[in-house]
Amino acid sequence: MIRDIEKIVITRGAISDRVRAIGEAITSNLINVDDEQEIVLVAVMTGSLIFVADLMRHLPMKIRIQLMTASSYIGKSTQSNNDPMIGKLPDVKGRHVLLVDDILDSGKTLTRIRQELEEMQPKSIQSCVLLRKKIDSAMDVPCEYVGFEIEDEFVVGYGLDHDGYYRNFPDIGVICP
Ligand code: IMP
Ligand code: MG
Repeated sequence: MIRDIEKIVITRGAISDRVRAIGEAITSNLINVDDEQEIVLVAVMTGSLIFVADLMRHLPMKIRIQLMTASSYIGKSTQSNNDPMIGKLPDVKGRHVLLVDDILDSGKTLTRIRQELEEMQPKSIQSCVLLRKKIDSAMDVPCEYVGFEIEDEFVVGYGLDHDGYYRNFPDIGVICP
């Protein structure tokens, strides 16, 4: 697997430091939400699998995890499909929601999920992604917490895949063409 990685973009050490900092930022913001700060953490599978597992351990408040699925790539493609397929969403009416995904690319996935969650009238909603590509479509999407801004290239590792592979690579890198 390691032979397929052309270069490492973010090391596991840098990821770990940043995830801790995001956890602290979320915690200090949500601490002011109200006394009963129960949060519904909606995690977009499968890309956010490792990120959410690490992040939640830096969130000391009362949390329920709700997993949902979305996919915007077909097979070996490295281009987002126009119309992401969104799975069943949890009921978040009247709840404080933290929506967590791996990466903002075209932005269509997070935009659609957030819209559908907002229609359920949660008490509050915030989004968090580990990575955001430095392209207009990704920058235009409302997102309260962003781990790293990256160049517009296809990355794998730390949960992100290509054709289902490389999610278990511990750093974030670019695969050989
Ligand atoms: P968007 O809807 O185009 O923003 O795409 C978001 C989804 O596509 C993410 O949740 C990822 O699962 C996937 N994705 C986008 N860019 C990459 C990438 O560079 N590597 C791996 N997956 C990606
Ligand atoms: Mg995804």
